Amino acid sequence: MRLRTRAVKLLEESIRKGEVILERDNLSHKDARLLENILIGVAKNLYLLDCYINSVLARNKLDTTTRNIARVALYQMLFLSRVPDYAIVSEGVESARELGFPESKCRFVNATLHRLTEAAGELQPPDELSIRFSHPKFVVKSLVEYLGEEQALKVIEADNKPHPTFFRINKLHKEKDRFIEKVKKNFAISFHRWFSEYFTVSPNVTPNLLPGFAEGAFTVQNPAFAIPVLLLEPKKGELTVEVGTAPGGKLSLIAEIVGEDAEIIGIDISADKLNITQKNLARLGPVKNISLILADGASLPFPDRSVERLLIDAPCSSLGVLSKFPLARYRKTDEDIERLAQIQEKLLLEGARVLKKDGVLVFSTCTLTKRENTDKILLADRFGLSVDKSYPERLEHFRLKNFFQTLPGEDGFDGCFAVRFRKLV
Ligand SMILES: C[S@@+](CC[C@H](N)C(=O)[O-])C[C@H]1O[C@@H](n2cnc3c(N)ncnc32)[C@H](O)[C@@H]1O
Repeated sequence: MRLRTRAVKLLEESIRKGEVILERDNLSHKDARLLENILIGVAKNLYLLDCYINSVLARNKLDTTTRNIARVALYQMLFLSRVPDYAIVSEGVESARELGFPESKCRFVNATLHRLTEAAGELQPPDELSIRFSHPKFVVKSLVEYLGEEQALKVIEADNKPHPTFFRINKLHKEKDRFIEKVKKNFAISFHRWFSEYFTVSPNVTPNLLPGFAEGAFTVQNPAFAIPVLLLEPKKGELTVEVGTAPGGKLSLIAEIVGEDAEIIGIDISADKLNITQKNLARLGPVKNISLILADGASLPFPDRSVERLLIDAPCSSLGVLSKFPLARYRKTDEDIERLAQIQEKLLLEGARVLKKDGVLVFSTCTLTKRENTDKILLADRFGLSVDKSYPERLEHFRLKNFFQTLPGEDGFDGCFAVRFRKLV
């Protein structure tokens, strides 16, 4: 099957499932990268491409497959300058043929793509941010409300740029130095500016192809998500619990910080996700000090005032990771924010119950809405929690008033929010 045909088929499936599905089997490295570029690029620019297609072909209603052929072709015309227009048109027509279109419909596809090539140079980006950057209107509105126009614009621009994959070095791994040397021999490595235990490699590689990954020397995690864990300051000799723990990115970092003989418990409501967590932790090495418990964080299996350090990594609308999950944005709704905010409130209330006096509770999300983030600060006060002003120095750069935050696009970060509370009574 031709590469563009594969792209059209995968695009159809990806849109149906709401996540980008990449099938790289039997492709050269170069073709695999082109396929990825096309699929992720189209996914991130869906509203814009459709707006252009509708304006050029105002009177033609396109069926789903023809629309996907047109999206793939127009994306290449506008964003991939190396592919000449005539090649894009003929590839599009060949895709239609390969997908079983009758000759008359292939001629229609040919005419459609020709009209797009003629118009491509004249297309003007629409003023409306939602369409220009392919974000649902309520997402733009929520970001503007929370961040102000200037920063919201930076975030939605960053959402459409490539998402870097960061690897975190497993501090407990006995052979980590040997594997880092091996990575350096095969790739250009760059360590993160603020968190030097995180690095990216060039050329980009799928994680299981990185030397040392299968052996547990590294894990995939954006450095922004170290912040809630560092803010928690887990310590030996104290019970540390994470609510919303799957797939274990922060839990394994807690274990790395505290070392082998700490008591750490990860709680999640999803049995399937806990199974994945178990596998991820097992890959990273001996995990005898971590227990996983299937439970609802709104009803924790702990007595009152029994936990010293509690991280609530709450389910959220995930507006801070739209670059990583390019199709997820189109499925989100305004009601999700309210529904999730109510779940988060229950988790916070229950967290306040199980926390010891003087215990530390960090509440974190990977979203950027007021309702899910800063509104919790007012609420926590009613639950007997006060914002804790003591925190590790190295986090000062990420502090905004009394909470901590990173934004997508800054230093390769995803968006992360975290606030640290203490139970004073
Ligand atoms: C943001 S993800 C956690 C990411 C994880 N902490 C990490 O760093 O890899 C949120 C998690 O909360 C879990 N969750 C959702 N509702 C929950 C609830 N009521 N109680 C416990 N866990 C819940 C989800 O299954 C999901 O795994």
